[in-house]
Amino acid sequence: MVSGNGRRLRSAAWFDAPGEPGLAHRAYLKSEGISQQAISNRPIIGIANAWSEFVNCNLHFRRLAAAVKRGVLQAGGLPLEFPTVSLGEVLMKPTTMLYRNLMAMDVEESIRAYPMDAVVLLVGCDKTIPASLMGAASVDLPTIVVTAGPAQAGFFCGHEISAGTDVWHYTEEYRAGRMSQAEWEELEASLVPSVGHCSEMGTASTMSTLVEVLGLALPGSAALPAVDSRRAASAELAGRRAVELALQPIRPSELLSKESFENAIVVLAAMGGSTNAIVHLLALAGRVGVPLTLSDFDSIFRRTPMITNVRPSGTHLFADVHRAGGVPAVVKELLPLLHAHVPTVTGHSLGENVAAARVHDRDVIASLDQPFRARGAIAVLRGSLAPNGAVIKPGAANGVLDKHVGPAVVFDDIDDLGRRIDDPALDIRPESVMVLKNAGPKGAPGMPEWGHLPIPAKLLRAGVSDMVRISDARMSGTAYGTVVLHVSPESAVGGPLGLVQTGDLIELDIDAGRVDLRVDERQIQARAAAFRPPAPKYRRGYGALFLEHVLQSDEGCDFDFLRKLPDEDAVTEPLGLVGEAINV
Ligand code: FES
Repeated sequence: MVSGNGRRLRSAAWFDAPGEPGLAHRAYLKSEGISQQAISNRPIIGIANAWSEFVNCNLHFRRLAAAVKRGVLQAGGLPLEFPTVSLGEVLMKPTTMLYRNLMAMDVEESIRAYPMDAVVLLVGCDKTIPASLMGAASVDLPTIVVTAGPAQAGFFCGHEISAGTDVWHYTEEYRAGRMSQAEWEELEASLVPSVGHCSEMGTASTMSTLVEVLGLALPGSAALPAVDSRRAASAELAGRRAVELALQPIRPSELLSKESFENAIVVLAAMGGSTNAIVHLLALAGRVGVPLTLSDFDSIFRRTPMITNVRPSGTHLFADVHRAGGVPAVVKELLPLLHAHVPTVTGHSLGENVAAARVHDRDVIASLDQPFRARGAIAVLRGSLAPNGAVIKPGAANGVLDKHVGPAVVFDDIDDLGRRIDDPALDIRPESVMVLKNAGPKGAPGMPEWGHLPIPAKLLRAGVSDMVRISDARMSGTAYGTVVLHVSPESAVGGPLGLVQTGDLIELDIDAGRVDLRVDERQIQARAAAFRPPAPKYRRGYGALFLEHVLQSDEGCDFDFLRKLPDEDAVTEPLGLVGEAINV
């Protein structure tokens, strides 16, 4: 079994194997009703499907998988679909981030172990995108990504609403007593009117965009609405392209370069994307041995203007980006800041892919000359409170608290927060700095999206709409406010955040890139000497594996043993194939 360019297909090692192994491999595929003609001389395209009824965002993936298969068959390949772990952002507890690496391992091992020549990743809900991509990158078979597309907007009291950003807003209204129970129930009924991922610039929209910019998805596919017939057509084209990639491979390692990561970071900043993408890009870079650090993000964030107007940093929804020209139009505007020559899965460069793109609505996609924000939609912070870094999203705040000094009000963990946040006796003022400990990779564990700490109801009722909040947690890409996230090292491993006490002064200066604990050094040392880490939350199973091997947020929260080894290329082939061939 050879490809069009005379190269032997990977799947031939299974189906052209001599003796009993080859017979068994063919016989077991034929037991599915697949003919010899369908197997012979055809690239096998795996379709890794993150469909699940627990994941509403991905619920249309059977239809998309059918479209991919159509494309594969049209191009002369054999599509074989397989299920993966699926991570549903809302229903999965304690957090999908705890399981991102588990899904990555599932996808990696499935791709490597099965006879496929290329793979299509069907992914949508937040963590399913980086998880699958991390796994596929570690195997390095030709890979193309098909994302879910944004869900339809809901309508509530005549307003177009998104499932994330508007929930945070209306939850504050409800807690402040400005919304009735009937309105609350009406909001619930109208919140998520269709399949598809969150409709604003949350993590799913952000990662879909970045996958396209990294060159791993077809141009123009990211922002196509989930229910738009063109999304299925795009999936069909991805299936066709996967067959071509199997015959003339372009591997993730050829696309995931330092330059393509820098492109992704520019677009992340320019679109006011999710801070979660920082963690995922760091993890993905670690999978392919690309040196990427928070300093790379910092320098790019400082010089990149924000040119899209999408919630939570703007007013539109992600589907409006499609209407206004799609991600290609955004990329075209940004070309002076990008490495346009980088290759992509289309066989053309990023610059070539977007040559024909046009902006149709300047209220959604601005020009570089007249951006919506000059620079700094996202920022990296360092300082005595976060020696290894922290992040914040100034683009999604009103700027009033960009420079602030206030006394800390410390919550030891999420349960402590839940118990006391609305206690009328809680001593907290608008200028207080809310601090949440033990919400990081090891402390929570899994670094949940707890960083958008709720403002106490008594302050909401008094008209307070933002406060400085600091934690080692993440925040939904749909959320907003002056919220310092990803503090590293985290509190549970003895980072300075773990030493903060109520009443300590904390200084935030976003322009200077600083977050500092204004406490005497000797006091800090005394507290550090007395620090005792919290008891581990897991003693067995995957949770124990996670606690032992997860890296800190500034390194992407991957497992240490999953990063690319410096002296080894990607391991594409499973063990045992050669040995089986002589077992005739
Ligand atoms: Fe799935 Fe937001 S809940 S993308």
